[in-house]
Amino acid sequence: LSQQTVAKLVLLGEMGSGKSSLVLRYVKGQFFDYQASTVGAAFLTKTLPELNVKFEIWDTAGQERYHSLAPMYYRGAAAAVIVFDITSADSLNRAKSWVRELQRQGNPNMIMALAGNKADLEAQRAVSTEDAQAYATENGLFFIETSAKTAANVNDLFQEIATRLPKA
Ligand code: GTP
Ligand code: MG
Repeated sequence: LSQQTVAKLVLLGEMGSGKSSLVLRYVKGQFFDYQASTVGAAFLTKTLPELNVKFEIWDTAGQERYHSLAPMYYRGAAAAVIVFDITSADSLNRAKSWVRELQRQGNPNMIMALAGNKADLEAQRAVSTEDAQAYATENGLFFIETSAKTAANVNDLFQEIATRLPKA
């Protein structure tokens, strides 16, 4: 039997972009219209038996006053999901600044995914798929649009990361 790959995964991104909702959808299959803003960070795990992978997930708080804590969560992480909200151009700018911070200070082998969340809110879209994809390609990120509300692409986001992990 091959050894289990244990992978630390961190979610970063603007407050309200949907980090906790994505994790809750992925790990527990739940979604709440009124999801409480995260204080500090939350920790959850998810095992993928078919790939023999265990994710140790750190869901960080997006509020600016927690920014200084972030390195504790991304240090040693095998993967980072940087989340923005497709209805907010500001949230994409915040995502780009997280990418720059990880490029400067993160693990150089880190798998980085850019998630354009709230894809169900197409009528309020403020960031085009093309612009986000072009930015992701330039920076070597894997890009996917998700909806924690409808569950669209949520499994695919984490599954893609799992398949890219170096195996134990
Ligand atoms: P912080 O913990 O403050 O950093 O926020 P967060 O990034 O964890 O966002 P959270 O998951 O708390 O979601 C913020 C709000 O957006 C909540 O009211 C969610 O219900 C809503 N939300 C999250 N994901 C989606 C989505 O895919 N679609 C829609 N329509 N709403 C979403
Ligand atoms: Mg949260």
